[in-house]
Amino acid sequence: MKAPAFDQIVDAIGEKRYKHILRVTETAEKLAKIHGVDVEKARTAALFHDICKYKDNARLWKEAERLNVKDLDSFKAFPQVLHAYVAAEAARVDYGIEDEEILRAIRYHTTGTENMSPVEEVVFLADYLEPMRNFDGVDELRKKAEADLKEAMAASLQGNLLFLIKQGTAVHLDTVRCYNDYMEK
Ligand SMILES: [Fe+2]
Ligand SMILES: [Fe+2]
Repeated sequence: MKAPAFDQIVDAIGEKRYKHILRVTETAEKLAKIHGVDVEKARTAALFHDICKYKDNARLWKEAERLNVKDLDSFKAFPQVLHAYVAAEAARVDYGIEDEEILRAIRYHTTGTENMSPVEEVVFLADYLEPMRNFDGVDELRKKAEADLKEAMAASLQGNLLFLIKQGTAVHLDTVRCYNDYMEK
């Protein structure tokens, strides 16, 4: 399994973020095992998912340019989403990860998207529900995630969308597509 060079990354993302990554990886492994999902893929995507969540925002944009992230301008309205797209490109270009499912799990861990695979669902849910997450209903969602990935995705997307709308935040189209996809299922 490929792993990020955390010795070179931890300073840039911060110790707290690094620990979050490790918790997400553990949670992803646990969920993958419960649901018979490819554990190595889930673990790899989880390890990489936040490697570009730099403390310094300028560094993120520089990396996005270096890695030729498409439609970079579109992320100006969604700065919280960009790190996921950059991390997927970093995993591909800098670490030679070619597995499209792993790359998608990294790229869509914040927004979700259409037609998510179980590996992608596991990583999305692990990020949303890792043990230090603390919001109303989180324990119920954790139980749901252990029982049924699709139901947990639907409930998480619904909560996420409501939260963004209450905050008056713009909603990335991938999140809307993801929400619609699960509401239809
Ligand atoms: Fe993230
Ligand atoms: Fe994360």
